[in-house]
Amino acid sequence: MTHVLVAYGSRRGSTAEIAGWIGDTLRGQGLETEVADAGSVRDVTAYDAVVLGGALYAGHWHKDARRFARRHAAALSDRPVWLFSSGPLDRSADEAEIPPVPQVARASEALGAVGHRTFGGRLARDAKGFITARIAERTGGDYRDADRVRAWAREVAELVATGHRTEV
Ligand SMILES: Cc1cc2nc3c(=O)[nH]c(=O)nc-3n(C[C@H](O)[C@H](O)[C@H](O)COP(=O)(O)O)c2cc1C
Repeated sequence: MTHVLVAYGSRRGSTAEIAGWIGDTLRGQGLETEVADAGSVRDVTAYDAVVLGGALYAGHWHKDARRFARRHAAALSDRPVWLFSSGPLDRSADEAEIPPVPQVARASEALGAVGHRTFGGRLARDAKGFITARIAERTGGDYRDADRVRAWAREVAELVATGHRTEV
């Protein structure tokens, strides 16, 4: 059976939840799928394909996603990898394709990723922290579109199942 890993880097849990939606969708498409915190994964050799996602903070991908990409690049060189970023606190991710930030573009290159998608983010309106609270007051809310995430995951599942490596 095809075995897929969905790994995520998340600070406040919303990217972890997106990873969960992707995992559920892949399982629903008949793929054996594990969802894990990217920082906790030691070995990827058991997987046939990997989806790696990270939250965006100040233009950077979450460090666990970055480290995962670095640490496992060699092991993943012969397996398909998809990347996603979550962040925008507005509807922009639903309106147009948002390209990866430079750091993610570099990870994509290093991993030979098949595709990348940016999804909207979530920030609680009462989130604490000096800068965070100001962002939250202005643009706090949940901008994730679960249907869009699941639709992308179905495309990934189809490509994993058929062994195609065309970009989605
Ligand atoms: C201090 C701060 C900086 C952020 N910087 C960015 C950014 O540069 N780009 C972006 O798209 N989203 C940015 N966001 C929004 C987060 O990426 C969004 O809240 C995301 O859903 C967080 O994911 P998490 O809950 O998994 O940590 C920022 C949020 C905070 C609080």
